[in-house]
Amino acid sequence: MTEDGTKVAIVTGASRGIGAAIAERLAGDGFTVVINYAGKAAEAEALAARIEQNGGRALTAQADVSDAAAVSRLFDTAEATFGGVDVLVNNAGIMRLASLAEADDALVDSQIAVNLKGVVNTLREASRRLRTGGRIVNLSSSVVGLFQPTYAVYAATKAGVEAMTHVLANELRGRNISVNAVAPGPTATALFLDGKPQEVIDRLSKLAPLERLGQPQDIAAAVSFLVGPDGAWINGQVLRANGGIV
Ligand SMILES: NC(=O)c1ccc[n+]([C@@H]2O[C@H](COP(=O)([O-])OP(=O)(O)OC[C@H]3O[C@@H](n4cnc5c(N)ncnc54)[C@H](OP(=O)(O)O)[C@@H]3O)[C@@H](O)[C@H]2O)c1
Repeated sequence: MTEDGTKVAIVTGASRGIGAAIAERLAGDGFTVVINYAGKAAEAEALAARIEQNGGRALTAQADVSDAAAVSRLFDTAEATFGGVDVLVNNAGIMRLASLAEADDALVDSQIAVNLKGVVNTLREASRRLRTGGRIVNLSSSVVGLFQPTYAVYAATKAGVEAMTHVLANELRGRNISVNAVAPGPTATALFLDGKPQEVIDRLSKLAPLERLGQPQDIAAAVSFLVGPDGAWINGQVLRANGGIV
């Protein structure tokens, strides 16, 4: 907690999309938020300004999560500015789709670097530094259970994230820190929408029994639950937030 009693949350990849909604929601819940981003500084700054205007507290921090030294500096910055870290939300991620026959090395390596090694990097720092009572939430994906063509490498990185979620929950025994994952279904962000023809978007929007796309705020609500008082007894779980798609 900071001197004024608020808890400190790092949200990776929070300049836009689901991460931005999570940062905004946690700030509204009373957390001091560290808005990590890779390249879109202006969007991160605009979000921080909006949070501050609404009475919250936010700091932006550039770091490529696939760079272990940069992630270490991200935690250093949070600790130096706010005195410690209570919550890590591993949201940063990329998706590159191709059949395995067509998957080139760049597609494979980039997703492993950000989605898998990036999460290793942040979990390592969080394991060493999170204060007692802390919470970790990793963003997986419901594609882990859908087995759709072209999603193999992306889904494999997210399956790895789910495995690390379970293992780290056990490794942190005695620390009073929970580790969970949220696995969204199709959610209306650039990651999902970019490059898809409208008919594909329409079809995927109707797959879930609730017959709409998820909104970033739907996912932020699930994260808010897991890091808030009502989520205290949830540990080592994967919560699929997807309108019932799988
Ligand atoms: N949208 C969906 O349908 C969906 C479904 C299931 C799971 N997910 C997962 O939810 C998470 C958020 O997805 P999204 O849809 O919100 O994606 P998005 O709109 O593409 O936003 C991605 C965010 O991650 C950041 N980022 C990318 N690479 C990074 C890196 N190397 N280091 C630090 N930050 C990095 C981006 O920063 P910049 O703005 O600076 O580039 C941006 O803030 C991802 O883990 C994704 O796999 C999404």
